[in-house]
Amino acid sequence: MDTQKLYIEGGKRIEGEIHLHGAKNSALPLLSAAALVARGESVLHNCPQLTDVYAACRILNHIGVKCRRDGSSVITDAGNITCCEVPVKLMREMRSSIVFLGAVLGRTGRCRLSFPGGCELGPRPIDLHLAALRDMGAVIKEEHGYLDCSAPEGLKGAAVTLSFPSVGATENIILAAVCAKGTTEIHNAAREPEITDLALFLTKCGAKISGAGTDLIVISGVDTLTGCEHTVIPDRIAAATYLCCAATAGGELVLSGVNAEHLGAVIPIMQAMGCRIYSFGKDSIYISVRGRLKAPTTIRTMPYPGFPTDAQALLMAAAATAEGTTVFVENIFENRYRHVSELLRMGCSIKVEGKVAIVQGVKRLYGAELEATDLRGGAALVAAALGAEGKSVISEIHHIDRGYENIEQALRNVGADIKRK
Ligand code: UD1
Repeated sequence: MDTQKLYIEGGKRIEGEIHLHGAKNSALPLLSAAALVARGESVLHNCPQLTDVYAACRILNHIGVKCRRDGSSVITDAGNITCCEVPVKLMREMRSSIVFLGAVLGRTGRCRLSFPGGCELGPRPIDLHLAALRDMGAVIKEEHGYLDCSAPEGLKGAAVTLSFPSVGATENIILAAVCAKGTTEIHNAAREPEITDLALFLTKCGAKISGAGTDLIVISGVDTLTGCEHTVIPDRIAAATYLCCAATAGGELVLSGVNAEHLGAVIPIMQAMGCRIYSFGKDSIYISVRGRLKAPTTIRTMPYPGFPTDAQALLMAAAATAEGTTVFVENIFENRYRHVSELLRMGCSIKVEGKVAIVQGVKRLYGAELEATDLRGGAALVAAALGAEGKSVISEIHHIDRGYENIEQALRNVGADIKRK
């Protein structure tokens, strides 16, 4: 049980540079691909040092894959897969372990997982994953909280149409399809940069994939894939987080190791709020924030390239003290306003009704005792606390550690007064 907390004394201007780590949401499917689908050794550079990534490596080690870290790189080698069951305890450590299903099934013809169930964002159904794998020849039994999957005659290509462009389902189908017999088409596929990163890695390993980044992905199965070296894309949500920290605290910040194109829906909104932001060089973004921000009117979360649900809580922290009213419409997850009750403790004025949250900007927030309720909601509390008057104490920070490498160190380096103890 994590008893450490973050202690933040608000009101300090931010100034300096933060170098971004690799994307958590890319690293997890890439590990699954590297460790389970490709034969031989793979090296993933810029693989973030996060509790979710450690949990993924523990699951892979349990299955029999060699998975070791060397600085910011992870080296995998699936010599002998000894087991195709992920135990409940490990499954609970990381909800997104469903991403191992397609890969394990494709590699071994069997996979037994505990049902991922709900999470802090509400029910997390996997019906789209299962329907697609069934179309590809998998036999899936759902019993006593377990999913028992087999592919008695191996997996075969299929034309799959997703009723929603689910990121996880698209990844699972790609991972299952690369070594299936025949061709798979994914219609209404997710277009997130993490999907393109996965397809790029698999293509380097010898897979035949076209259309990644569009809503139609076509995969022609090949016999084997061979491991390779790859650099994980920068974490666009961590980048949005630090931009929001600059927005709440004020000051000047350079983010390096970042891809501004991946923030195409976030940057214009922050510019409309009055932040000065531009990208420069190969991989850097500059932000400068002076004075009170303006409310950005309406923010609707959408699948990529729309505004990311993962940045909703963070922009809410920035909108909380902006001049005017901001309407948030959360279209992706049912239960993604749990940070609101914590923001209210700081003096925010927010009303939630169903998937809509109305934020009336107040002049000032005040430090408070807060609890991180989920990963991005927790990060939003950090951003809000940096701009608040007085001291905030944030507990349950294990949520935050799932997605940020040493967040307090990164922020302390740019002038924030933040400690973990
Ligand atoms: C991924 C990201 C998460 C991000 C989300 C949306 C990872 C590890 N996580 O999650 O950070 O917030 O994309 O960008 O990459 N759904 C179904 N049935 C399914 C699958 C999904 O109804 O079989 C619904 C979900 O309940 C949710 C919506 O589709 O309401 C989006 O889910 P999905 O795109 O699958 O998100 P994840 O892959 O779980």
